[in-house]
Amino acid sequence: MPADRATPNLQIFADATEMARAAAIRIIELAHVSANAHGRFSLALAGGSTPKRIYELLASEEFSDQLDWSQVHVFFGDERCVPPDHDDSNYRMASEALLSRVSLPAENVHRIRGEGDAVANARLYEDELREYFGDGKWPRFDLVMLGMGDDGHTASLFPGTSALDVQNAWVTANWVEKFDTFRVTLTAPAINHARQVMFIVTGASKAERLQEVLHGARDEHRLPSQLIQPQDEGALAWFLDEPAAAKLSRKELG
Ligand code: 6PG
Repeated sequence: MPADRATPNLQIFADATEMARAAAIRIIELAHVSANAHGRFSLALAGGSTPKRIYELLASEEFSDQLDWSQVHVFFGDERCVPPDHDDSNYRMASEALLSRVSLPAENVHRIRGEGDAVANARLYEDELREYFGDGKWPRFDLVMLGMGDDGHTASLFPGTSALDVQNAWVTANWVEKFDTFRVTLTAPAINHARQVMFIVTGASKAERLQEVLHGARDEHRLPSQLIQPQDEGALAWFLDEPAAAKLSRKELG
C-alpha cells in the first residue's frame, strides 16, 4: 500500500443543498487557482444524479459570472454507452444543467462518445486527453469530481470488474455484468494523478458503504472508491451531507 496516501479531508454539511453550494464555491476557487497558475482549468465531471444541483448552481447568475469560461475545459469521468440525447447520458445531464447555459466554447467541451463501439470510444477519448495534456505518463486534471454508488463504485469502476486492474491506460471500456453493458471510464491511475479529487456523496443509502470505504478494511475490488488515492501531492476531499455521513464514527473523524 503506497505510503504517500492523501489523508481524506471530509467536509460534512447539513443537507444536499448546503453540500452543493459548498462544492460550487470550492470549484470556483480551484478554477481561479488553476487559471492563475497555468492559464486554464481542466475539470472532469461526475455523472449520476448527485452533481446535477452543483452544475445548476455553477450555471446560475450568482456563480457563472465568477468564471472566465474560455479558460475552462470540461471532461467526463465516465459515460454510459448511449447517444448524447439519451435519458441516461451523463453528457446530456451535464449539458442541460450547465454546459448549454454558460459561455463555454464548444471546443472546450470534451465529451466521451457513448454511441458506437465502447472499446474504440475509450481509445478515442484517450487520444483526446493526450492531445490536451500532452503525452506524459498520466493526465494531470486540475479537478476530478466523483460520485459513489451504494455498492462503493465510483466513475464506472464497478466492484469485481476488469477496469479495476487497468494500470497502463488512461481510459478503458469496462463490461458491467449487472447492467449487461459496457461503460467508458477514466482508470484509477488517471484519476489518481489529478491535482484535486472531490467526492460528492449524499443520502442515507450511501452511509453504510461510506463507512466501509473510509474506515473499513482495504478491499478495493469490493469497494472501488478505495482505489482513489491521489499521488504526487494530489489532494482528496469528500463533500458529504449528514445522512451520508451518519455511520462515520465521529471519533475516527477526529
Ligand atoms: C455514473 C456515475 C457514477 C455515479 C454513482 C453515484 O455514470 O453513474 O459516474 O459513478 O457517480 O453511481 O450516482 P448518484 O449520484 O446518482 O447516486
